[in-house]
Amino acid sequence: MHSAVITKVYSNCVQRISPITLLQHHQFHRNHHLIMEQNQPTVGGVTAEVLKGVVSQALLGKFTAVFPKLFKCQWKTYEGQKKFYANFSTDCIDNNSNMSARKFCVGGNWKMNGDQKSIAEIAKTLSSASLDPNTEVVIGCPAIYLMYARNLLPCELGLAGQNAYKVAKGAFTGEISPAMLKDIGADWVILGHSERRAIFNESDALIAEKAEHALAEGLKVIACIGETLEEREAGKTNEVVARQMCAYAQKIKDWKNVVVAYEPVWAIGTGKTATPDQAQEVHAFLRQWLSDNISKEVSAALRIQYGGSVTAANAKELAKKPDIDGFLVGGASLKPEFVDIINARQ
Ligand code: PGA
Repeated sequence: MHSAVITKVYSNCVQRISPITLLQHHQFHRNHHLIMEQNQPTVGGVTAEVLKGVVSQALLGKFTAVFPKLFKCQWKTYEGQKKFYANFSTDCIDNNSNMSARKFCVGGNWKMNGDQKSIAEIAKTLSSASLDPNTEVVIGCPAIYLMYARNLLPCELGLAGQNAYKVAKGAFTGEISPAMLKDIGADWVILGHSERRAIFNESDALIAEKAEHALAEGLKVIACIGETLEEREAGKTNEVVARQMCAYAQKIKDWKNVVVAYEPVWAIGTGKTATPDQAQEVHAFLRQWLSDNISKEVSAALRIQYGGSVTAANAKELAKKPDIDGFLVGGASLKPEFVDIINARQ
């Protein structure tokens, strides 16, 4: 509803822009004081005049159901002056508007699968497909094929390592570093996957240190969490994911380059997907946890992927949930149906 009204106003003006885009462009924070020169285009191409038009309509009551919810704003316009002042907070951005602010993000986690031939085929499928431009796509490729995959995959797709150590270099036989991932053209790394936790005994603390270092080196991080079947059946799902988030939060100070992947371990590779309601319940819990323990801004902006037996058949229903901002896909990311999963929001 919000965007419909806003679009109507803007279609007569400079360009279509949602309030959320404005928020992003100007990084408005609580009580942030914005001063715009009259008719000087801002990043979003919106001039103070246009903004003023929208605001005055809001003040006239046209947006009473819209703006207060979005901005809890106190607008001050000084007619006749060259400057336009707006004073507002993002305190009460509602869930629906947040949803549109978070770009859908789909990761393919190939795990220890693929060879040159099959990777070339996947790259061909992805290159010839029409992929939703509103979805960010990241391919998690075995380290040894990263450079090969980078050369074959469409350049707008992100490329992720599936693991990286917590320091830049040194005597750590068999490990790779974030610096190396960056050097060969990867821009992401998947950390804390349940297979790393269970099979390679990685602790919450080590994973958090890896995340801290990867972020410091300029990589983006898909930070995985999730409970086992035993933990779920014991009613401990929230407790477990909160513990895993706490460990990350000890080390991560800036969440801008982080995507959290909630992957219930019992759903990974089992063909047993969490129902959209089950997934949404944990995602909503995580959103609240972020708001209570990090900040409202991080809670509103951080993308939370769902992972665990996502297929073309179940992706669309999962993607409708307000707190599911994408997927981390294992088995199905090796198949042509990955294209349909990327396009789940279309
Ligand atoms: P799956 O794996 O889609 O094969 O269940 C998901 C994952 O482990 O990231």
